[in-house]
Amino acid sequence: MSGLFTSKKVRNYRFKNRIIMPPMASEKATPTGEVTDKTINYYYERAKEGLGGVIVEHAFISEAGRFSKRQLSIAEDSMIDGLSSLASAIKSTGTVAIIQLSHAGCEAYHRCKPFSPSGISIPGKEEINSKKLSIGEISEIKTDFIKAAERAMKAGFDGVEIHGAHGYLLNQFNSPLTNHRQDKYGGSRENRARLSFEIAQDIREVVQDKLLLYRLGAVDQFEKGLTTPDAIWIAKELVRLGVDIIDISGGLGGYRGSKNTEGYFVTVAKEINQNLTKPVIVAGGITSPEYANKVVEEEKIDFVGIGRAILSRPDWPLSAKKELT
Ligand SMILES: Cc1cc2nc3c(=O)[nH]c(=O)nc-3n(C[C@H](O)[C@H](O)[C@H](O)COP(=O)(O)O)c2cc1C
Repeated sequence: MSGLFTSKKVRNYRFKNRIIMPPMASEKATPTGEVTDKTINYYYERAKEGLGGVIVEHAFISEAGRFSKRQLSIAEDSMIDGLSSLASAIKSTGTVAIIQLSHAGCEAYHRCKPFSPSGISIPGKEEINSKKLSIGEISEIKTDFIKAAERAMKAGFDGVEIHGAHGYLLNQFNSPLTNHRQDKYGGSRENRARLSFEIAQDIREVVQDKLLLYRLGAVDQFEKGLTTPDAIWIAKELVRLGVDIIDISGGLGGYRGSKNTEGYFVTVAKEINQNLTKPVIVAGGITSPEYANKVVEEEKIDFVGIGRAILSRPDWPLSAKKELT
């Protein structure tokens, strides 16, 4: 049996293989963010083909953190029924169902003045005029994350993933490029990551024995931005505070290299993984079964995220299994 198709237990959850569908915005929700039949079919069609786990796309935790028009919402209790149907559809296939919780920060640019840690926007989007969050507003955002996690639990998800990558709010806090605060949420590496740590700690209490993942923007890919040693330190702290799986990605304004290079975050993920006692997921340009298997068997990374390849070929896991056996 190839490494890619061995099962792995994390807490009480058995992933039947190492293939994860990473969060990918499908833009299939209603304008108010409800799950639609199209959302359910989209996930079910992929989960039934033999994925180990699905991380449902970024769901906004509050209107102020919404990224786009047809984004999924987890901001209201009225969303729970739809989310519950979605979780059941994924779980009915024997696939572990996680949902990503997100606040887009300054990227919530449908707002006339979105929030950000310091009123500084992410590189490449300098035109965004954002508002520096007050301590009170930061505290409200924490509460929004926690309530969103509670809704995910009520909906029956096996776990939640905190979105700390791709230039969204928590990545904006973690990065020295976008966080110039001088209070307890800015300055040192520890202060910049404090909001993520507090949210992770509180959500651990909410999810209890279910799974807690953190998607870490491990490298900003800009001079003076977050680097691998920072990411190792943040990841170790997150694990200490109760995160079960670190999901590695990067790029403060999105990934800046060639998206066709296979496994473009594998080197970073490997380094982080070697320093952790908990599993890691790595996504980024992985398309061939042999390479995905090599990431697990040789690079010793527990899970591979297969995104765009599964978007275009839902049967990727089944054909990978045939190819590898
Ligand atoms: C259409 C699309 C939507 C995405 N939406 C999200 C998202 O909601 N949350 C997130 O963390 N990453 C998102 N991503 C990034 C993917 O999770 C993944 O990291 C990236 O596509 C690289 O993996 P791949 O090369 O296998 O596609 C998205 C990517 C694509 C292509």
